[in-house]
Amino acid sequence: MEIQLWREILDPYELAVSELTTKFNHLIKEHKDRDMYSPIESVSGRVKSVSSILEKLQKKQIPFDQMEEQVEDIAGVRIICQFVEDIERVAELIQNRSDIIIKSEKDYIKHMKDSGYRSYHLIVYYTVETVQGPKKLQAEIQIRTMAMNFWATIEHSLQYKYKMNIPQHVADRLTRAADAIIALDNEMSSVRNEIMDAQNFSQIQMNLVTDILNNIENLYKLSNKREVVKIQDEFYRIYAMHDLQQLQRFHKQLDIIAEGYRAQSVKTENT
Ligand code: GTP
Ligand code: MG
Repeated sequence: MEIQLWREILDPYELAVSELTTKFNHLIKEHKDRDMYSPIESVSGRVKSVSSILEKLQKKQIPFDQMEEQVEDIAGVRIICQFVEDIERVAELIQNRSDIIIKSEKDYIKHMKDSGYRSYHLIVYYTVETVQGPKKLQAEIQIRTMAMNFWATIEHSLQYKYKMNIPQHVADRLTRAADAIIALDNEMSSVRNEIMDAQNFSQIQMNLVTDILNNIENLYKLSNKREVVKIQDEFYRIYAMHDLQQLQRFHKQLDIIAEGYRAQSVKTENT
């Protein structure tokens, strides 16, 4: 048998996981920067450990030279959403990307596993650039709600503890917990709009405050300091009112003032 250079084999998968998590995190940021609700709550990723890979090869009788084709989850990315409805939107976002090609899909939400496991899985192709050129590899993307993730994490630990032989009374509890998770996801879906509104509100406010303070800082460099202190006091007064509309109005006014100063400073530069 040939020597297997694990580190070399797994290295492109490390890169893929790192790139994919960066890209999904950037999607969260893009949504937030645009005052849009992000269907992605958080992202994590991992490369399968050598021992888990060996275990899978053994269990599924996969020859080593077919490992990269047949073990589809060497690179794994997990996307956590707040609501079940978000999962579909994330799947669409992925479908529409040119850098990720979907190979197959498993919907364990429509078709819950006997264990009670729920999650939406995509096996995708993703290309990384290496010193030897581009390498197209496979990755598993799991998309699930926070509640589904809670259940899966606990169940996984129990599987580990009982080495796949979970006693019946524990399995029964897990089944009941899975039912409770379904109920919880449904309950949360029914208040999704309210929750989204509340989160949008706080995101819009956060972006506004950042913008206003940036503007004030710029003004401070350009104009009469005493004027700017007055503007800042006015900002704090309006901020304390907890009224988004007032804050938006102030933001617009400040924009106009800043524009005026900019025009003035351009004029003085030119004279
Ligand atoms: P694995 O050999 O476990 O990768 O299964 P598979 O290749 O037949 O694919 P499957 O779609 O069944 O599972 C893919 C992944 O989903 C697993 O590696 C787990 O991360 C997760 N998963 C699947 N079933 C369960 C389950 O019953 N409980 C938990 N906690 N996770 C599961
Ligand atoms: Mg797996």
